[in-house]
Amino acid sequence: MRIRSLRGAAVAAGLSVLVAAQPALASPDGHGGPRYTAGAPSVGDPYFPDEGNGGFDVRHYDIAFTFDPATKGIDATTTITAVATQDLDQFDLDFRGPQISSLTVGKHKASFRREGQELIVTPRPKLKTGTEFTVTVKYAGVPPVITDPDDSIEGWVPTDDGVFVPGEPQGSAAWLPGSDHPTDKATFTFHATVPEGLTAVGNGQLLSQKTAKGRTTFVWDSTEPMATYLATITIGRFQVAESSTPGGIPIYTAVDPQLATQSAATVAKIPEIIEYFNTLFGPYPFASAGAIVDRAPDVGYALESQTKPIFSSAPSVNTMAHEIAHQWYGDSVSVKRWSDIWLNEGFATYAQWLWTEHSGGATAQQTFDGSGNYGRAATSSFWQTVTTDPGPVNMFGNVPYNRGAMTLHALRGKIGDPAFFKLLKDWATTHKYGNATTADFVAEAQSVSGMDLTAFFDVWLYQKGKPTTW
Ligand code: TRP
Ligand code: ZN
Repeated sequence: MRIRSLRGAAVAAGLSVLVAAQPALASPDGHGGPRYTAGAPSVGDPYFPDEGNGGFDVRHYDIAFTFDPATKGIDATTTITAVATQDLDQFDLDFRGPQISSLTVGKHKASFRREGQELIVTPRPKLKTGTEFTVTVKYAGVPPVITDPDDSIEGWVPTDDGVFVPGEPQGSAAWLPGSDHPTDKATFTFHATVPEGLTAVGNGQLLSQKTAKGRTTFVWDSTEPMATYLATITIGRFQVAESSTPGGIPIYTAVDPQLATQSAATVAKIPEIIEYFNTLFGPYPFASAGAIVDRAPDVGYALESQTKPIFSSAPSVNTMAHEIAHQWYGDSVSVKRWSDIWLNEGFATYAQWLWTEHSGGATAQQTFDGSGNYGRAATSSFWQTVTTDPGPVNMFGNVPYNRGAMTLHALRGKIGDPAFFKLLKDWATTHKYGNATTADFVAEAQSVSGMDLTAFFDVWLYQKGKPTTW
C-alpha cells in the first residue's frame, strides 16, 4: 500500500476530468488500452517532500558491491524488482549516490537524468500497469554523508576501519537507488565484497561468506518486508558472535574490538530483552536478530536497522532495549508519514520504561513522574510541541520520545492494564510488515477498550500544552 502524493492526486484528478471531457484521448483501439503517463516524483510526505515515488511498487532490492577501504568508495550494481501500478512512460527513483555508468529496464538500456535526489528514468518499451519489471543501476564512487534538518548525519559515514550506514530518515538514497519512503517496503539481498579481515554486516540472515584472493563476499538476505531507511550494510573490523534467543531466533552481533569490553554486558542481554518483549508485544517479528556496535562518534545516535540495530558507540542496556523494541514498533509496524514518528519513538521509549521496571529499576510510573517527563513545569517549552507534528527538525527531539511514552502510560491508566497490553499486541499484529497512522491507533485503542477516547487523545496527541485532566 502506498499513499498517493498530493501532486499525484492532483494530476490523477485532473486527468479523469480531462478524459471524461475529451473522449478523443481514449486509446486507439477504443477498449481502454494503456494510457501512459509519468509516475509521481514522490509520495508527497510534507516532512521530506522528495521521498518515495509513484507509479510502481518495489518488491525487492538486490545490491552487489565491492568496497575500497582506502577511499570508502563502492563499485555497485543494484537491481530493483518492481510492479507498475499505472501505465508508465517515465518514473523516478530516489538516488543521491555517486556517478551512474548504466541503467537498464529489463534488458533494455533506458535513458535517465538526475535532478537533486530524483533519478528520472524513461523506460522503453513503456510499462503497462501490473507489469513486473527490473531496473539495474550500475554506479561507482564514494556515497555521500547526508545532513538532516536537525544537523545530524547519516547515509554513508566513514569510520576508521570502514563505514557506518544509518538511513533514517533519508540516508539510504546515499548508496541505494530506490523508493526512499517507509510506505514502500521490500525484501533485500546484499552482496558485499570487502578486503579479507573486514566484515560487512547487513540486515537479515547471512547466506554465505566466502573468501578468495584476499577478498571476502558477504551475502545477507532480509526476508521480511523492510523500509529503505532501515537498511544497513555496515563495514569494519568486527568481533562477530552468533547465538540465539531461548525461542530459537538466531542472533548475530558484530562489535568493534575497541568497544568489546565496554559493550559486552549490554550485548549479552539481547536474548533476555527479546524474550521479555515477546511476552509484552507478541512474537518477535523477524527471522533473525542481532546488533552492530561501531565507533562513529560524529553520528552520536543509535538506529533500529531491521534485525541489526546499529550503535555509533557502546550502548547502554536501556538503549539496546529501545532499539530492540523498535523491531515491533517502527520496523514491522512503520509510519505512513513521518509526522507520526511518535508511533515509533514513543513506543520504543515506553518499552524502555517497562524494561527498566522489569529489571528492578524505576517503575514506569516513577519514570512518567520524573523531571524529564510529566515533572516538567507547565511553562516549559517542551509542552509547546504537538506530539503528532514535531516537524522535521524535532522529529528525533524530546517530544515524540517522551511525550509519546507519557501518552502510552497515561493511556494505560485510562483503559487499564488488560486492554492496554492487548492493544500493544493487537497493534503489532494488525499492522505487521505494514504502515499505520495515529488515527489508526486511536481507532484501535477505542475498539479494544470500548471507550470514547477523543478527549484523551486530543490533549495528549493533538494539542499543545501540558495535559492536566484526561
Ligand atoms: N530512530 C533512532 C532511535 O531513536 C534515532 C535517530 C534516527 C536519530 N535518525 C536520527 C536521532 C537522526 C537523531 C537524528 O533509535
Ligand atoms: Zn528510537
